[in-house]
Amino acid sequence: MHYKLLLVLFTTLYCYTYIPELEIDLSAPPKQRWKEAVQLVLNLYGYEETFGPVFAFHNEHSFDVLNQDDYTTIAQALRKNFPEHALELEGIIEVLDRPEITFEYMAGWAYFHEIAHITNQFQECTGVLLSLDDQVIHGRNMDQAPKQGRNLVLHLYIKKDGKNIGEVVDWYWFKGGFITALKYNVVALEENWRIDEYLTKESVMTYIKKGLPSLTQVFRDILINEKLNTFEKVVQYLENNEVGCGLYNIVSGMQKDQGVIITRGSQETFQTIRLNTSIGIKYLVQTNYDHWLPDPEYDPRRTEAENLLQGMKNNLMNEFGVYAIMNTYPVHNEGTFLTVIMNAKYNRIIVLGQEAITFFDDE
Ligand SMILES: *[C@@H]1O[C@H](CO)[C@@H](O)[C@H](O)[C@H]1NC(C)=O
Repeated sequence: MHYKLLLVLFTTLYCYTYIPELEIDLSAPPKQRWKEAVQLVLNLYGYEETFGPVFAFHNEHSFDVLNQDDYTTIAQALRKNFPEHALELEGIIEVLDRPEITFEYMAGWAYFHEIAHITNQFQECTGVLLSLDDQVIHGRNMDQAPKQGRNLVLHLYIKKDGKNIGEVVDWYWFKGGFITALKYNVVALEENWRIDEYLTKESVMTYIKKGLPSLTQVFRDILINEKLNTFEKVVQYLENNEVGCGLYNIVSGMQKDQGVIITRGSQETFQTIRLNTSIGIKYLVQTNYDHWLPDPEYDPRRTEAENLLQGMKNNLMNEFGVYAIMNTYPVHNEGTFLTVIMNAKYNRIIVLGQEAITFFDDE
């Protein structure tokens, strides 16, 4: 016990600048899997600087479309179709231990992306893929709100059946899934928000009732599915799985030019774009707008990143160079929760710590 307390103190002292690291064993009993992660965050920052304001913010901006019956329907669907996921959430609820955090409420969070896509517009993300000889360097910024969500970001080492299968840097782990992951010896994965004009609450509820998984479960499924053991197999999977809302998948692999951007919609299909140095496509950038359209004037992140890549000197053609781009305003902005640089060839996911730019002044 004393040892544990000391450890908490020790991690507390060291975690204000660095992203806390933790091992997650997906073979542990489902209810136990995320308890330590929740406790770690609560010990470091307290409920009022983490889950509290994050829940309050998204109750107002994302979950406002749901009524009590919707929560009940989602909870029933989750228990029926994803009993293991449901148990994981129960473990998280036990540690949070607050009357308002019910299973119904957390089931809503399990489908946060699908639900939030109906109305919420508080999200930006940037992905950069740079082809360098036989490697692809993958930069990733995750932007969201509110600012206290940054305190939920953890760097997780994922284990299953005694094997280390990958790493995750994310804040969505508390809903049992993630949108930034490295699957060792296979791929680096990133998901970005795509505005989905076709989405309605009805279409989202239909998707959930059909027993389809939430967006954040998909990378987790890829991580544990041993059959998805090559870049091309993962790309095919992400091009064809059924999705409940618009999204972009930015995927990089272990070999030359293995880098794609996959555009998905709940009711549309699109052509994937690929790195291809033989025809001069040495880099790709994806923010939150379809690549065949110009950036909106009020949000030029893609153009800015492309210009920086175009002008990049040879001595910066490496992970530091990509980090420099990911760290330049407005690619890196007030909403950025995390920046990681991934390199699937070397099983590397580099995290440089908590973000330096502070949240919008008026918040
Ligand atoms: C690269 O472009 C060439 C020419 O269009 C094409 O033949 C080749 O299949 C492309 N490679 C990839 C990996 O898409």
